[in-house]
Amino acid sequence: MINIRQLIDIETCTYTYIIWGSNLEAIIIDPVLEQVKRDLDYMKKLDLNLQYILETHVHADHITGASKLREKTGAKICYGSKTGVKGSDILLEDNDCINLNTFSIKSIYTPGHTLGCTSYYVDGYIFTGDTLFIEGTGRTDFQGGCSESTYNSIRNKIFSYPDETIIYPGHNYKGLTSSTIGYERQHNPNVGDNIKINDYIEREKNMNRPYPKRFDVAVPANMLCGKKK
Ligand code: FE2
Repeated sequence: MINIRQLIDIETCTYTYIIWGSNLEAIIIDPVLEQVKRDLDYMKKLDLNLQYILETHVHADHITGASKLREKTGAKICYGSKTGVKGSDILLEDNDCINLNTFSIKSIYTPGHTLGCTSYYVDGYIFTGDTLFIEGTGRTDFQGGCSESTYNSIRNKIFSYPDETIIYPGHNYKGLTSSTIGYERQHNPNVGDNIKINDYIEREKNMNRPYPKRFDVAVPANMLCGKKK
């Protein structure tokens, strides 16, 4: 059995996840720099022993807490190999497994939101980062983003898991916390079962979203695992 705690950074609506097994070995997914103290305090309270820091992608809206957490705990930083980041400990390919003593977590290469996006599967849960949101998908207009890839990553890889699989996304801006594959197949307006790839691609082209506020600070820092130059 695994335990999962979902934590939020209110300012950027970013979800961080701490996952641990019965022997208290833990991993953290997508920590936020400003929340590192909160995360460390929480893990200390539960006596957790952080082993791995997993990133779903190079974030454009916040700086990752990965480097700071590694400094404090000695945990190893893991990124998808296609991210191009410097200074991580492990670069993951599609279907790689990170093995702890009581559970293992599998990387699923899911490009689309960015070229390097990775989702993570563990024990009936998928952490989808900004690839698949609750009733949505991440934008595809920078960092090697590609709407065709998003559609294919979700339809061919994420949706190949059973309908009852729980989805834990990287963000939600409406207060929703989780979903399931069955729900997204039915209700997702971009990649649901009844949405055709060309209709989604066409809609993405015409989105004209604003330039992310912190892009110029966050992306260079995150390319170095969250170290500011
Ligand atoms: Fe993102």
